[in-house]
Amino acid sequence: MKAVITHRFLPRRVLSFALGSPLGTGAQVKDVSIPSITDNEVLVKVRAVALNPIDFKDIDFISPRNSAIGCDYAGEVARVGKNSGQRWKVGDEIAGFVHGGLYPDVGSFAEYLKVDGDLAWKVPDEMTLGEATTYGVPAATAMLSLSYLDIPWADIENGRSAHSDQPTILIYSGGSNVGLFAIQLAKRAGYKVVATASPRSFDLAKRYGADAVYDYRTSASIGEIKKAYPNITKALDCFSEGSSAAFCADVLREGKVVTLLDQGKPKKANVTYTFLMVYTVFGRKFQLMAPLGPVFPVIPTDREVLTNFYGNLSTLSLDVVRPPPITTIKGGFKEIFEGLETLRKGEGRGTKLVVEFQ
Ligand SMILES: NC(=O)c1ccc[n+]([C@@H]2O[C@H](COP(=O)([O-])OP(=O)(O)OC[C@H]3O[C@@H](n4cnc5c(N)ncnc54)[C@H](OP(=O)(O)O)[C@@H]3O)[C@@H](O)[C@H]2O)c1
Repeated sequence: MKAVITHRFLPRRVLSFALGSPLGTGAQVKDVSIPSITDNEVLVKVRAVALNPIDFKDIDFISPRNSAIGCDYAGEVARVGKNSGQRWKVGDEIAGFVHGGLYPDVGSFAEYLKVDGDLAWKVPDEMTLGEATTYGVPAATAMLSLSYLDIPWADIENGRSAHSDQPTILIYSGGSNVGLFAIQLAKRAGYKVVATASPRSFDLAKRYGADAVYDYRTSASIGEIKKAYPNITKALDCFSEGSSAAFCADVLREGKVVTLLDQGKPKKANVTYTFLMVYTVFGRKFQLMAPLGPVFPVIPTDREVLTNFYGNLSTLSLDVVRPPPITTIKGGFKEIFEGLETLRKGEGRGTKLVVEFQ
């Protein structure tokens, strides 16, 4: 089969990271073997993929040479491992995401991918495969972030009307794809949501449920939020660059800020930061930017976050957790590379780029 595979040695990855530049193309389409599956896995014929910022970062500097790229997918089950037979059958339409960018045989920018059978969800009849792909990295990251902020799955699963004490959560960069999912899930759990965005994304954040939206580009917003919501103790920083974590910490009376990148976390009394990597939901130890970056141990409860979410998403998805606005591109690997270049340039905001394979 054909798949997008990285080809960079470590020094060029480090240089690309240090310079903040792609330095050419770090991956190409190659002929590789169709992945063989274990008893717990299924093989999926990939029909659609969604593009994430992590994909171009993988290509440019994160992934070791010979890693398969791509995380989010939707497609048809093509083969079923012995232990997944009760859950899936050949031809089922499923979606989810994989830990692309680390292994030679795990990636969604490919004709086929393999995934643990309990870490995929069934695409409802009313949903297109393109829409289904968007519930991968950003949705799982939003779920995991809320779990790290001690918002229990039961409150999301069952839905909770506004708590009597009206807790409020701050979602920085609420118009991002992670942010749009986090807003919806936090609302479902009964939280009041204060988001930040630039003015062009105000309406978007509100349409997905934010109760109030402030401009992150002006520091005056910090004082305004604190005045209107003096008791916020939970924040999710969906940007995690520059001064965004400091902005979140300044808003908090006390409590925790979850960040999605590991940088820019100034000390503040009674405020802690937690940096998460969504790949811990796969239940395998891994190293980011191997062999140089931090090692993430197995966290069994993180895997449960994804099995809980995907196990119930088919019923939750349509009325509770809507996909972000989508731009669908019909094509293949060429269109994936073009879409990643759009993301690399910081373009394509306010929409999720999805490539449906033709
Ligand atoms: N650690 C993890 O496991 C993990 C998982 C997923 C994502 N991530 C990372 O989290 C980030 C968000 O991912 P995503 O998929 O949600 O990205 P995305 O949808 O592409 O995010 C785009 C958003 O970024 C906002 N933005 C752009 N420049 C900004 C600035 N200077 N200050 C504040 N916000 C700015 C824009 O908001 P406005 O339109 O309001 O300007 C835009 O809506 C990425 O860096 C990604 O790599 C990490």
